[in-house]
Formats: sequence, C-alpha cells, structure tokens
Amino acid sequence: GPLEEVSIPLYFGWFLLFSVKNKIKCTSMDFLKTLDTLDAFKKHSVDSEKEVDLEQYFKPAGILHCTTKFCDYGKAEGAKEYAENQAVIKSYGSISDLSLSAFFVTPRTCGARVYLTEEQLQLWPADAEKQAEPVPEAAASLPLGSRAHITLGCAEGVEPVQTGIDLLEILAQQESQQGELVEEMELGSLTYYGEGKWLLNLREPICVPACFSSIYG
Ligand code: A2P
Repeated sequence: GPLEEVSIPLYFGWFLLFSVKNKIKCTSMDFLKTLDTLDAFKKHSVDSEKEVDLEQYFKPAGILHCTTKFCDYGKAEGAKEYAENQAVIKSYGSISDLSLSAFFVTPRTCGARVYLTEEQLQLWPADAEKQAEPVPEAAASLPLGSRAHITLGCAEGVEPVQTGIDLLEILAQQESQQGELVEEMELGSLTYYGEGKWLLNLREPICVPACFSSIYG
C-alpha cells in the first residue's frame, strides 16, 4: 500500500560526519585552485585564452555523501529488495571510515573516488556499475564498487547522478591505459584523460568517518 512505499527512502548511502565536512571541502577547493593555475590545465582548456575559475564553475553539492542505492522512494529497480536486505538493515546507523583515494574533475562534475572495504561492499548493489544511463560500455567490466564516489560539485544544469558516470568513464580509460601523466603534485599524481577529464590519485588516501543511513527529503 502507499504507507509501505513511503518507508522506502530517496537513497541510501554513507553520510560524512559533520566534523569532517569542512576538511573535505577545503581539500577539494585546494585541488581545484591548484588545477586552475597549472599550465597543463590551461593548455587543455576549450578556450585557452579564457581564465576558468573552477571554484565558481562548480556549484557545491549539498549533503556530502556516497550513495549506495538510489531508491527513488521505491520506484527505482531493486529498491525494495535493497531496503529489505539483511546487511542493509543491520548496518543502518553504523559508522565506518570511508577511504577517499582520488579527486576528479570533468567539464560536468567534480568528485572524490571512494575505495570501499570488503565490509562496505556488502552494502553495494551488484548492479550499481551497470544501472544509470548512459553508462560507458567499458565500465561493465570494472570491479564492483568502482562507481563509489562523493559528488563535490556540478556545473550549472548538471545533475549529481552524472558524477558516477564520469568516474566510470575515467576508470575505464585508466584500465586501458589511456591517461597522460601530467604532474606529480604534493597530494599525488595528476593524470589527464582527454576532453577535460582529470584525475588526481592521492598518495595518501583521506579517511573520513561516515554514517550509513538514508535520505527521505
Ligand atoms: P550522486 O550519488 O552521484 O551524488 P537527486 O538530488 O538528483 O535526486 O539525487 C540524489 C542522490 O542520488 C545524489 O547523490 C545522486 O547522485 C544520486 N542519484 C540520483 N539518481 C541516481 C541514479 N539513477 N543512480 C544512482 N544514483 C543516483
């Protein structure tokens, strides 16, 4: 009945604890600032004459989180099964560390890659890498959890769901060694994947505590 449907949220995910939000925002801003000023970045810009201010370009994301399952209040495929999964019920409300392994930027989105533990993978839907449209073809063969990310910002008019798709595209390119190593930075190595896609692999992953929960609003 309708009441039952109400009990399925918009999405499940890991929500960064309040205390670390600013840290991640600052680190990602630093990354954007550094990228902005790199000659290589200017060279690959669509209009190399025009200065791009990345911090202005991306509208900051609201609640910092890593989506596990987008349920759309039960309308999404597999939503009910996910909400009723024992691992999901058992872990609901628990806190674990998310390991951020990379930052990435495309003309559409800016995000952080999340490297999931075996335990966290128990909460990861088997079809997450194949679900949203359009998913890059090569992404179907990427390991489970490849799509895990935190959306940090989106360009004007871009929906956050795009961030995971952009990440999958970059990882598929990484798999077939298409990237061009541009610079060794203090934070890690910066690789360019063409068409405005950049990924900074962090030397030291950033660990942030997060609560597994859901959003209804
Ligand atoms: P993401 O996880 O990349 O940030 P919205 O605000 O558009 O309703 O989305 C709410 C959250 O659910 C966002 O975090 C968004 O993307 C994610 N999301 C939206 N649609 C999908 C989808 N079709 N598949 C997976 N995640 C989605």
